[in-house]
Amino acid sequence: MNKPQDTFRADIFVPADRWTSPERDAAEREKLFPKTWQMVCREDRLESVGSFVAHDIIDDPILVIRTGTGPDDLSAIYNVCQHRGRRLVDRSHGILGHEIACRFHGWRFGWDGSLKGATDEADWDRCPSFDKKALSIPQIKVGRWGGFVFVNLDPDCEPLESWIAPVAEILDPFHLEDCKPRFWATIHAPVNWKVYIEAFNEGYHAGETHKLGINYRGGTSPGFAAGPHGMFFSEGGGFSEYKVRGANAWKTPETFQEHLWANMAHQYDTLFALTLDPTMKAADAIRELPAGTSPEEIMGVFYSRTVEETEKSGAKFPRDLTLEAMARAGTDWHIFPNMIILPSLDGALVYRALPDPKDRDKSFVDVWSLGRYPDDYVGPKEPDSFKDFESFRGNNPFLEEDFDNMGAVNSGMKSRGFKGATFNPSQEAQIRHFHAMLDKWCGTP
Ligand code: FES
Ligand SMILES: [Fe+2]
Repeated sequence: MNKPQDTFRADIFVPADRWTSPERDAAEREKLFPKTWQMVCREDRLESVGSFVAHDIIDDPILVIRTGTGPDDLSAIYNVCQHRGRRLVDRSHGILGHEIACRFHGWRFGWDGSLKGATDEADWDRCPSFDKKALSIPQIKVGRWGGFVFVNLDPDCEPLESWIAPVAEILDPFHLEDCKPRFWATIHAPVNWKVYIEAFNEGYHAGETHKLGINYRGGTSPGFAAGPHGMFFSEGGGFSEYKVRGANAWKTPETFQEHLWANMAHQYDTLFALTLDPTMKAADAIRELPAGTSPEEIMGVFYSRTVEETEKSGAKFPRDLTLEAMARAGTDWHIFPNMIILPSLDGALVYRALPDPKDRDKSFVDVWSLGRYPDDYVGPKEPDSFKDFESFRGNNPFLEEDFDNMGAVNSGMKSRGFKGATFNPSQEAQIRHFHAMLDKWCGTP
Protein backbone atom coordinates (compact mmCIF):
# COMPACT_ATOMS: atom_id res chain seq x y z
CA MET A 1 0.00 0.00 0.00
CA ASN A 2 1.24 3.47 -0.70
CA LYS A 3 0.14 6.83 0.58
CA PRO A 4 -1.67 8.80 -2.06
CA GLN A 5 -2.01 11.61 0.50
CA ASP A 6 1.30 13.07 -0.62
CA THR A 7 0.70 12.50 -4.34
CA PHE A 8 -2.66 14.20 -4.19
CA ARG A 9 -2.05 16.96 -1.65
CA ALA A 10 -1.48 19.36 -4.55
CA ASP A 11 -4.23 17.85 -6.68
CA ILE A 12 -7.26 17.08 -4.57
CA PHE A 13 -9.82 18.73 -6.86
CA VAL A 14 -11.96 16.62 -9.20
CA PRO A 15 -14.23 18.57 -11.60
CA ALA A 16 -17.99 17.95 -11.46
CA ASP A 17 -18.05 16.70 -15.05
CA ARG A 18 -16.49 13.41 -13.86
CA TRP A 19 -19.93 12.64 -12.45
CA THR A 20 -22.22 14.67 -14.68
CA SER A 21 -20.93 14.66 -18.25
CA PRO A 22 -22.63 12.34 -20.77
CA GLU A 23 -19.22 11.84 -22.45
CA ARG A 24 -17.70 10.47 -19.23
CA ASP A 25 -20.74 8.27 -18.73
CA ALA A 26 -20.35 6.89 -22.26
CA ALA A 27 -16.63 6.32 -21.70
CA GLU A 28 -17.35 4.34 -18.53
CA ARG A 29 -19.81 2.16 -20.45
CA GLU A 30 -17.37 1.55 -23.32
CA LYS A 31 -13.94 1.54 -21.70
CA LEU A 32 -14.38 0.69 -18.05
CA PHE A 33 -17.09 -1.88 -17.35
CA PRO A 34 -16.36 -4.10 -20.38
CA LYS A 35 -12.64 -4.14 -19.56
CA THR A 36 -12.37 -4.53 -15.79
CA TRP A 37 -13.08 -7.58 -13.64
CA GLN A 38 -16.71 -7.57 -12.58
CA MET A 39 -18.08 -9.56 -9.66
CA VAL A 40 -21.08 -11.61 -10.79
CA CYS A 41 -22.26 -13.54 -7.74
CA ARG A 42 -21.35 -15.65 -4.75
CA GLU A 43 -19.96 -19.03 -5.77
CA ASP A 44 -22.52 -20.91 -3.69
CA ARG A 45 -25.17 -19.94 -6.27
CA LEU A 46 -23.39 -22.30 -8.67
CA GLU A 47 -23.29 -25.46 -6.61
CA SER A 48 -24.50 -28.31 -8.80
CA VAL A 49 -23.37 -29.15 -12.33
CA GLY A 50 -25.62 -27.33 -14.79
CA SER A 51 -26.54 -24.54 -12.38
CA PHE A 52 -26.30 -21.06 -13.82
CA VAL A 53 -26.58 -17.38 -12.94
CA ALA A 54 -27.66 -14.74 -15.45
CA HIS A 55 -26.21 -11.28 -14.91
CA ASP A 56 -26.18 -8.01 -16.82
CA ILE A 57 -23.09 -5.83 -17.07
CA ILE A 58 -24.92 -2.74 -18.31
CA ASP A 59 -25.99 -3.76 -21.86
CA ASP A 60 -24.19 -7.09 -21.88
CA PRO A 61 -26.24 -10.01 -20.56
CA ILE A 62 -24.04 -12.93 -19.56
CA LEU A 63 -24.39 -16.46 -18.20
CA VAL A 64 -22.07 -18.21 -15.79
CA ILE A 65 -22.59 -21.98 -15.76
CA ARG A 66 -21.10 -24.73 -13.57
CA THR A 67 -19.82 -27.33 -16.04
CA GLY A 68 -18.25 -29.87 -13.69
CA THR A 69 -17.47 -30.73 -10.08
CA GLY A 70 -14.04 -29.06 -9.92
CA PRO A 71 -14.01 -25.56 -8.38
CA ASP A 72 -12.82 -23.99 -11.63
CA ASP A 73 -15.28 -25.86 -13.84
CA LEU A 74 -17.14 -22.70 -14.76
CA SER A 75 -18.08 -21.40 -18.19
CA ALA A 76 -19.02 -17.80 -18.92
CA ILE A 77 -20.68 -16.85 -22.20
CA TYR A 78 -22.80 -13.98 -23.48
CA ASN A 79 -26.47 -14.66 -22.89
CA VAL A 80 -27.30 -13.92 -26.52
CA CYS A 81 -28.58 -16.23 -29.27
CA GLN A 82 -26.45 -15.88 -32.37
CA HIS A 83 -29.38 -16.32 -34.76
CA ARG A 84 -31.25 -13.03 -34.33
CA GLY A 85 -29.92 -11.80 -31.03
CA ARG A 86 -32.64 -12.88 -28.63
CA ARG A 87 -31.50 -13.08 -25.02
CA LEU A 88 -30.99 -16.80 -24.70
CA VAL A 89 -32.05 -17.54 -21.11
CA ASP A 90 -34.79 -15.47 -19.47
CA ARG A 91 -34.50 -16.88 -15.94
CA SER A 92 -32.11 -15.22 -13.47
CA HIS A 93 -30.72 -18.53 -12.14
CA GLY A 94 -31.51 -22.23 -12.01
CA ILE A 95 -30.41 -25.43 -13.76
CA LEU A 96 -29.76 -25.82 -17.48
CA GLY A 97 -30.03 -28.94 -19.61
CA HIS A 98 -26.97 -29.84 -21.67
CA GLU A 99 -28.37 -27.90 -24.59
CA ILE A 100 -29.70 -24.39 -24.14
CA ALA A 101 -32.54 -23.86 -26.61
CA CYS A 102 -33.51 -20.38 -27.74
CA ARG A 103 -37.23 -19.71 -27.28
CA PHE A 104 -37.56 -17.79 -30.57
CA HIS A 105 -36.70 -20.35 -33.27
CA GLY A 106 -35.07 -23.10 -31.24
CA TRP A 107 -31.36 -22.85 -32.05
CA ARG A 108 -29.46 -24.91 -29.47
CA PHE A 109 -26.17 -24.06 -27.77
CA GLY A 110 -23.83 -25.94 -25.40
CA TRP A 111 -22.59 -24.64 -22.03
CA ASP A 112 -19.38 -23.51 -23.73
CA GLY A 113 -21.40 -21.48 -26.25
CA SER A 114 -20.93 -23.92 -29.14
CA LEU A 115 -23.80 -24.06 -31.63
CA LYS A 116 -25.19 -27.58 -31.37
CA GLY A 117 -27.85 -27.21 -34.01
CA ALA A 118 -30.24 -24.89 -35.78
CA THR A 119 -33.88 -25.64 -36.44
CA ASP A 120 -34.32 -26.84 -40.08
CA GLU A 121 -30.58 -26.76 -40.49
CA ALA A 122 -30.84 -28.29 -44.00
CA ASP A 123 -32.25 -24.94 -45.18
CA TRP A 124 -28.71 -23.53 -44.92
CA ASP A 125 -27.29 -26.26 -47.14
CA ARG A 126 -24.34 -24.91 -49.20
CA CYS A 127 -24.71 -21.52 -47.50
CA PRO A 128 -21.11 -20.34 -46.86
CA SER A 129 -21.96 -17.93 -44.03
CA PHE A 130 -23.52 -20.73 -41.96
CA ASP A 131 -20.37 -21.72 -40.09
CA LYS A 132 -21.22 -23.44 -36.82
CA LYS A 133 -17.92 -22.49 -35.25
CA ALA A 134 -18.31 -18.83 -36.11
CA LEU A 135 -21.91 -18.93 -34.91
CA SER A 136 -20.92 -20.09 -31.42
CA ILE A 137 -21.57 -17.70 -28.54
CA PRO A 138 -18.35 -15.88 -27.59
CA GLN A 139 -16.77 -17.11 -24.35
CA ILE A 140 -15.90 -14.73 -21.53
CA LYS A 141 -13.00 -14.84 -19.05
CA VAL A 142 -14.08 -16.10 -15.64
CA GLY A 143 -12.27 -16.21 -12.30
CA ARG A 144 -12.85 -16.83 -8.62
CA TRP A 145 -11.68 -15.13 -5.47
CA GLY A 146 -13.01 -14.98 -1.92
CA GLY A 147 -16.09 -17.02 -2.79
CA PHE A 148 -17.01 -14.53 -5.52
CA VAL A 149 -17.25 -15.31 -9.23
CA PHE A 150 -15.83 -12.60 -11.48
CA VAL A 151 -15.91 -12.13 -15.26
CA ASN A 152 -14.06 -9.84 -17.64
CA LEU A 153 -15.53 -9.10 -21.06
CA ASP A 154 -12.10 -8.15 -22.41
CA PRO A 155 -10.42 -11.24 -23.94
CA ASP A 156 -7.01 -9.56 -23.49
CA CYS A 157 -7.49 -8.59 -19.85
CA GLU A 158 -4.98 -8.92 -17.02
CA PRO A 159 -5.55 -12.21 -15.11
CA LEU A 160 -7.83 -11.88 -12.06
CA GLU A 161 -5.03 -13.22 -9.83
CA SER A 162 -2.67 -10.31 -10.47
CA TRP A 163 -5.49 -7.73 -10.65
CA ILE A 164 -6.85 -8.72 -7.24
CA ALA A 165 -3.42 -9.47 -5.67
CA PRO A 166 -3.07 -6.27 -3.58
CA VAL A 167 -6.46 -6.97 -2.00
CA ALA A 168 -6.09 -10.75 -1.74
CA GLU A 169 -2.73 -10.41 0.01
CA ILE A 170 -4.48 -8.68 2.92
CA LEU A 171 -7.98 -10.18 2.85
CA ASP A 172 -7.20 -13.87 2.17
CA PRO A 173 -6.88 -14.66 5.93
CA PHE A 174 -10.60 -13.77 6.28
CA HIS A 175 -11.46 -16.78 4.07
CA LEU A 176 -14.54 -15.14 2.65
CA GLU A 177 -14.91 -18.20 0.40
CA ASP A 178 -16.15 -20.07 3.50
CA CYS A 179 -18.73 -17.42 4.37
CA LYS A 180 -22.41 -17.37 3.49
CA PRO A 181 -24.86 -14.49 3.30
CA ARG A 182 -26.85 -13.46 6.36
CA PHE A 183 -28.73 -11.03 4.14
CA TRP A 184 -28.58 -9.97 0.51
CA ALA A 185 -30.44 -6.96 -0.88
CA THR A 186 -30.66 -5.43 -4.35
CA ILE A 187 -31.82 -1.85 -4.70
CA HIS A 188 -32.56 0.16 -7.84
CA ALA A 189 -30.73 3.18 -6.49
CA PRO A 190 -31.70 6.64 -7.74
CA VAL A 191 -28.04 7.76 -7.96
CA ASN A 192 -25.04 7.44 -10.24
CA TRP A 193 -23.00 4.31 -9.44
CA LYS A 194 -19.96 6.38 -8.37
CA VAL A 195 -21.96 8.32 -5.77
CA TYR A 196 -22.87 4.98 -4.19
CA ILE A 197 -19.38 3.48 -4.26
CA GLU A 198 -17.71 6.67 -3.00
CA ALA A 199 -20.07 6.90 -0.02
CA PHE A 200 -18.80 3.51 1.16
CA ASN A 201 -15.18 4.27 0.35
CA GLU A 202 -14.38 6.66 3.19
CA GLY A 203 -14.91 7.02 6.92
CA TYR A 204 -14.64 10.82 6.93
CA HIS A 205 -18.45 11.10 6.92
CA ALA A 206 -19.00 8.88 9.98
CA GLY A 207 -19.00 11.66 12.60
CA GLU A 208 -21.63 13.72 10.82
CA THR A 209 -23.74 11.11 9.01
CA HIS A 210 -23.98 8.29 11.53
CA LYS A 211 -25.67 9.71 14.60
CA LEU A 212 -28.19 7.04 15.38
CA GLY A 213 -26.47 5.32 18.26
CA ILE A 214 -22.80 6.29 18.26
CA ASN A 215 -21.09 9.65 18.28
CA TYR A 216 -18.17 8.77 15.99
CA ARG A 217 -16.52 12.18 16.26
CA GLY A 218 -12.95 12.00 17.46
CA GLY A 219 -11.74 9.30 15.09
CA THR A 220 -9.89 9.63 11.82
CA SER A 221 -9.84 7.34 8.78
CA PRO A 222 -6.71 7.75 6.64
CA GLY A 223 -6.90 6.28 3.15
CA PHE A 224 -4.36 4.48 0.96
CA ALA A 225 -3.97 3.21 -2.59
CA ALA A 226 -3.32 -0.49 -3.26
CA GLY A 227 -2.63 -0.95 -6.97
CA PRO A 228 -5.76 0.27 -8.78
CA HIS A 229 -7.75 -0.30 -5.60
CA GLY A 230 -7.96 1.66 -2.34
CA MET A 231 -8.64 1.25 1.36
CA PHE A 232 -8.90 3.07 4.68
CA PHE A 233 -8.19 2.43 8.34
CA SER A 234 -10.35 3.75 11.17
CA GLU A 235 -8.04 5.10 13.85
CA GLY A 236 -7.86 7.16 16.96
CA GLY A 237 -10.47 7.76 19.64
CA GLY A 238 -13.17 6.06 17.57
CA PHE A 239 -16.14 7.68 19.26
CA SER A 240 -16.99 9.62 22.34
CA GLU A 241 -20.50 8.54 23.31
CA TYR A 242 -23.05 5.85 22.62
CA LYS A 243 -26.78 5.61 23.02
CA VAL A 244 -27.84 3.24 25.77
CA ARG A 245 -29.88 0.32 24.40
CA GLY A 246 -33.60 0.87 24.81
CA ALA A 247 -33.22 4.31 26.40
CA ASN A 248 -33.06 7.84 25.13
CA ALA A 249 -29.82 8.54 26.95
CA TRP A 250 -26.21 8.89 25.84
CA LYS A 251 -23.25 7.55 27.79
CA THR A 252 -19.50 8.05 27.57
CA PRO A 253 -17.68 4.71 27.79
CA GLU A 254 -15.54 4.53 30.89
CA THR A 255 -13.28 1.69 29.82
CA PHE A 256 -11.73 0.27 26.67
CA GLN A 257 -13.98 -2.78 26.96
CA GLU A 258 -17.12 -0.68 27.22
CA HIS A 259 -15.99 1.31 24.16
CA LEU A 260 -15.44 -1.87 22.13
CA TRP A 261 -18.70 -3.41 23.34
CA ALA A 262 -20.75 -0.31 22.41
CA ASN A 263 -19.30 -0.22 18.90
CA MET A 264 -20.06 -3.91 18.35
CA ALA A 265 -23.56 -3.64 19.85
CA HIS A 266 -24.38 -0.72 17.57
CA GLN A 267 -23.37 -2.68 14.45
CA TYR A 268 -25.21 -5.75 15.71
CA ASP A 269 -28.42 -3.80 16.43
CA THR A 270 -28.54 -1.51 13.38
CA LEU A 271 -26.32 -2.85 10.56
CA PHE A 272 -26.80 -6.64 10.88
CA ALA A 273 -23.33 -7.03 9.43
CA LEU A 274 -19.67 -7.08 10.60
CA THR A 275 -20.82 -7.88 14.17
CA LEU A 276 -22.89 -11.07 14.06
CA ASP A 277 -23.60 -13.54 16.87
CA PRO A 278 -20.04 -14.76 17.61
CA THR A 279 -18.39 -11.34 18.05
CA MET A 280 -21.47 -9.96 19.83
CA LYS A 281 -21.22 -12.77 22.39
CA ALA A 282 -17.47 -12.12 22.69
CA ALA A 283 -18.14 -8.40 23.19
CA ASP A 284 -20.71 -9.20 25.90
CA ALA A 285 -18.05 -11.32 27.62
CA ILE A 286 -15.27 -8.71 27.59
CA ARG A 287 -17.66 -6.08 28.92
CA GLU A 288 -17.56 -7.95 32.21
CA LEU A 289 -13.76 -7.72 32.52
CA PRO A 290 -12.67 -5.52 35.44
CA ALA A 291 -11.72 -1.88 34.88
CA GLY A 292 -7.95 -1.59 34.56
CA THR A 293 -7.60 -4.71 32.37
CA SER A 294 -5.09 -3.83 29.66
CA PRO A 295 -6.33 -3.33 26.08
CA GLU A 296 -4.03 -6.17 24.91
CA GLU A 297 -5.55 -8.57 27.41
CA ILE A 298 -9.06 -7.44 26.47
CA MET A 299 -8.38 -7.98 22.77
CA GLY A 300 -6.90 -11.41 23.56
CA VAL A 301 -10.04 -12.47 25.43
CA PHE A 302 -12.28 -10.90 22.76
CA TYR A 303 -10.47 -12.85 20.03
CA SER A 304 -10.44 -16.21 21.81
CA ARG A 305 -14.13 -15.87 22.73
CA THR A 306 -14.93 -15.09 19.09
CA VAL A 307 -13.13 -18.25 17.95
CA GLU A 308 -14.92 -20.27 20.65
CA GLU A 309 -18.36 -18.85 19.85
CA THR A 310 -17.89 -19.36 16.09
CA GLU A 311 -16.92 -23.01 16.62
CA LYS A 312 -19.69 -23.54 19.18
CA SER A 313 -22.16 -22.49 16.48
CA GLY A 314 -20.85 -25.29 14.25
CA ALA A 315 -18.94 -22.98 11.89
CA LYS A 316 -15.20 -22.97 11.14
CA PHE A 317 -12.98 -20.12 12.30
CA PRO A 318 -9.92 -19.60 10.07
CA ARG A 319 -6.72 -19.99 12.10
CA ASP A 320 -4.74 -17.55 9.97
CA LEU A 321 -7.24 -14.82 10.81
CA THR A 322 -5.24 -13.45 13.74
CA LEU A 323 -5.62 -10.10 15.46
CA GLU A 324 -2.51 -8.99 13.53
CA ALA A 325 -4.14 -9.95 10.20
CA MET A 326 -7.23 -8.07 11.33
CA ALA A 327 -5.22 -4.94 12.16
CA ARG A 328 -3.37 -5.10 8.82
CA ALA A 329 -6.67 -5.25 6.94
CA GLY A 330 -7.97 -1.97 8.36
CA THR A 331 -11.62 -1.13 7.82
CA ASP A 332 -12.70 -0.93 4.20
CA TRP A 333 -11.45 -2.01 0.76
CA HIS A 334 -12.46 -0.69 -2.62
CA ILE A 335 -11.92 -3.15 -5.45
CA PHE A 336 -11.71 -1.02 -8.58
CA PRO A 337 -14.04 -0.01 -10.01
CA ASN A 338 -17.33 -0.96 -8.35
CA MET A 339 -17.00 -3.25 -5.35
CA ILE A 340 -16.42 -2.58 -1.63
CA ILE A 341 -15.50 -5.08 1.10
CA LEU A 342 -15.40 -4.37 4.84
CA PRO A 343 -13.85 -7.45 6.47
CA SER A 344 -14.52 -8.52 10.07
CA LEU A 345 -13.85 -11.49 12.35
CA ASP A 346 -17.42 -12.62 11.65
CA GLY A 347 -17.26 -12.25 7.84
CA ALA A 348 -17.73 -9.13 5.75
CA LEU A 349 -20.02 -6.43 4.47
CA VAL A 350 -19.91 -6.26 0.67
CA TYR A 351 -21.26 -3.73 -1.83
CA ARG A 352 -21.47 -3.68 -5.63
CA ALA A 353 -22.86 -1.00 -7.95
CA LEU A 354 -23.64 -1.23 -11.67
CA PRO A 355 -24.94 1.59 -13.86
CA ASP A 356 -28.53 1.38 -15.05
CA PRO A 357 -28.25 0.91 -18.84
CA LYS A 358 -31.03 3.45 -19.40
CA ASP A 359 -30.25 6.19 -16.92
CA ARG A 360 -26.91 7.49 -15.68
CA ASP A 361 -28.64 8.83 -12.54
CA LYS A 362 -29.61 5.33 -11.50
CA SER A 363 -27.77 2.16 -10.63
CA PHE A 364 -28.39 -1.37 -9.46
CA VAL A 365 -26.71 -1.86 -6.12
CA ASP A 366 -26.29 -4.99 -4.03
CA VAL A 367 -25.41 -5.39 -0.36
CA TRP A 368 -24.31 -8.67 1.21
CA SER A 369 -23.72 -9.33 4.89
CA LEU A 370 -21.50 -12.42 5.02
CA GLY A 371 -21.05 -14.59 8.11
CA ARG A 372 -19.48 -17.84 9.26
CA TYR A 373 -22.12 -20.55 9.46
CA PRO A 374 -22.31 -24.36 9.83
CA ASP A 375 -22.27 -26.42 6.62
CA ASP A 376 -26.02 -27.00 6.68
CA TYR A 377 -26.85 -23.28 6.85
CA VAL A 378 -28.63 -22.11 3.73
CA GLY A 379 -28.47 -18.38 3.20
CA PRO A 380 -30.71 -16.42 0.86
CA LYS A 381 -30.48 -17.77 -2.69
CA GLU A 382 -32.12 -14.66 -4.10
CA PRO A 383 -31.87 -11.06 -3.01
CA ASP A 384 -34.62 -9.03 -1.37
CA SER A 385 -35.33 -6.48 -4.11
CA PHE A 386 -36.25 -2.85 -3.56
CA LYS A 387 -37.31 -0.35 -6.19
CA ASP A 388 -35.56 2.60 -4.52
CA PHE A 389 -34.01 3.74 -1.22
CA GLU A 390 -37.41 4.77 0.19
CA SER A 391 -38.87 1.30 -0.13
CA PHE A 392 -35.77 -0.10 1.63
CA ARG A 393 -36.51 2.04 4.70
CA GLY A 394 -36.99 0.04 7.88
CA ASN A 395 -34.58 -2.71 6.83
CA ASN A 396 -31.24 -1.40 8.02
CA PRO A 397 -31.06 1.82 10.05
CA PHE A 398 -27.27 2.14 9.67
CA LEU A 399 -27.27 1.89 5.86
CA GLU A 400 -30.27 4.21 5.62
CA GLU A 401 -28.14 6.98 7.13
CA ASP A 402 -25.73 6.52 4.20
CA PHE A 403 -28.51 6.28 1.63
CA ASP A 404 -30.02 9.53 2.92
CA ASN A 405 -26.98 11.47 1.63
CA MET A 406 -26.79 9.90 -1.79
CA GLY A 407 -29.76 11.41 -3.61
CA ALA A 408 -28.83 14.81 -2.23
CA VAL A 409 -25.25 14.44 -3.51
CA ASN A 410 -26.44 13.22 -6.89
CA SER A 411 -28.64 16.27 -7.42
CA GLY A 412 -26.36 18.83 -5.73
CA MET A 413 -23.35 18.03 -7.89
CA LYS A 414 -25.31 18.82 -11.06
CA SER A 415 -25.84 22.43 -10.05
CA ARG A 416 -23.96 25.18 -11.87
CA GLY A 417 -23.17 26.25 -8.32
CA PHE A 418 -20.87 23.23 -7.86
CA LYS A 419 -17.54 23.16 -9.67
CA GLY A 420 -16.22 19.91 -8.36
CA ALA A 421 -15.18 17.88 -5.31
CA THR A 422 -12.36 18.99 -3.03
CA PHE A 423 -11.30 15.77 -1.39
CA ASN A 424 -9.71 15.51 2.03
CA PRO A 425 -6.04 14.74 1.21
CA SER A 426 -5.83 12.15 4.00
CA GLN A 427 -9.26 10.65 4.67
CA GLU A 428 -10.50 10.78 1.06
CA ALA A 429 -7.18 10.14 -0.67
CA GLN A 430 -8.47 6.73 -1.76
CA ILE A 431 -11.37 8.39 -3.62
CA ARG A 432 -8.98 10.83 -5.28
CA HIS A 433 -7.02 7.74 -6.31
CA PHE A 434 -10.25 6.17 -7.65
CA HIS A 435 -10.68 9.22 -9.91
CA ALA A 436 -7.08 9.06 -11.08
CA MET A 437 -7.76 5.43 -12.07
CA LEU A 438 -11.04 6.38 -13.76
CA ASP A 439 -9.23 9.06 -15.79
CA LYS A 440 -6.65 6.46 -16.76
CA TRP A 441 -9.29 4.00 -18.01
CA CYS A 442 -11.82 6.42 -19.42
CA GLY A 443 -9.83 9.53 -20.39
CA THR A 444 -11.02 12.95 -19.31
CA PRO A 445 -14.27 14.40 -20.63
S1 FES B 1 -33.21 -15.70 -32.18
FE1 FES B 1 -32.66 -17.50 -31.19
S2 FES B 1 -33.30 -19.05 -32.50
FE2 FES B 1 -33.88 -17.26 -33.53
FE1 LIG C 1 -21.49 5.38 6.30
